Amino acid sequence: MIEFNHIRKSFGEKVVLEDVSHIMETGKCNLIIGQSGSGKTVMQKCLVGLFEPDEGEIIYDGVSFTDMGIEQRKELRQQIGMLFQGSALFDSMTVEQNIMFPIDMFTNKPFAEKLKQVNEVLERVNLVGINKKFPAELSGGMKKRVGIARAIVLNPKFLFCDEPNSGLDPQTSMVIDKLILDITREFNMTTVINTHDMNSVMEIGENILYLYKGKKEWSGNKKDIIFSKNERLNGFIFASEFLQDAKDMRMLEAKGKIDDNRDMNELLNGDKLV
Ligand SMILES: Nc1ncnc2c1ncn2[C@@H]1O[C@H](COP(=O)(O)OP(=O)(O)OP(=O)(O)O)[C@@H](O)[C@H]1O
Ligand SMILES: [Mg+2]
Repeated sequence: MIEFNHIRKSFGEKVVLEDVSHIMETGKCNLIIGQSGSGKTVMQKCLVGLFEPDEGEIIYDGVSFTDMGIEQRKELRQQIGMLFQGSALFDSMTVEQNIMFPIDMFTNKPFAEKLKQVNEVLERVNLVGINKKFPAELSGGMKKRVGIARAIVLNPKFLFCDEPNSGLDPQTSMVIDKLILDITREFNMTTVINTHDMNSVMEIGENILYLYKGKKEWSGNKKDIIFSKNERLNGFIFASEFLQDAKDMRMLEAKGKIDDNRDMNELLNGDKLV
């Protein structure tokens, strides 16, 4: 679990995050959503210590990250996996070398043991046998999966993914989402995902923090979104008329009105039902 309270972060005059508090739950995909520039990446960077917030406290499993010294933070970092925006694989290294990188950084294990770990995570992301390939030889979805394999190779308790679906088609995106969700549950990790992908939100949004211009505008889960009356949230998630209609339909369905043919006809004729 990661809890954070009253986080503020500014760059010079520009306040990017203001008074943001939330709890990221264990064994769940915790989403940070919001428009481009709303502060998602800055938030994640604050949580992992790449940025130092101006104010507020971050607590990992009951221990204050904010008060930790360098050594303690280093130890905690070994329990953190990160999937960067764009996968950030090392182009000059093979898949195997890429995934071995964090093992080399934090341990002195013999090669055979490291290779076993690499092969285990490659199997977990369904990429058995691509050890000797270079990133340039892989598709976008495969690169993401290698990125995920590298992020989980040290069995982290906390996994951070910044836009894991950017640049992928909707179906491949769903495969990646499902993989992250499965791994999160299997290893009981606290997973934090930045996204502005509406599909991800509705598929894996178990705990969602919606940022609007650096402030917490709304929080809830994917079911709450259907019934939310928050206009900014609705405008963001259901940006197109088509999706707004789909939301209305879902609401009706949930209210049990869809069985009524008269209501259905009204709906199909474009009349607004409340
Ligand atoms: N190192 C930095 N120095 C100054 N300003 C920064 C820095 N990093 C981010 N910002 C500013 O903080 C704001 C939020 O940026 P951030 O990258 O967190 O947005 P985001 O929600 O992740 O957007 P996107 O969806 O495009 O990734 C932006 O206005 C950005 O210009
Ligand atoms: Mg970002």
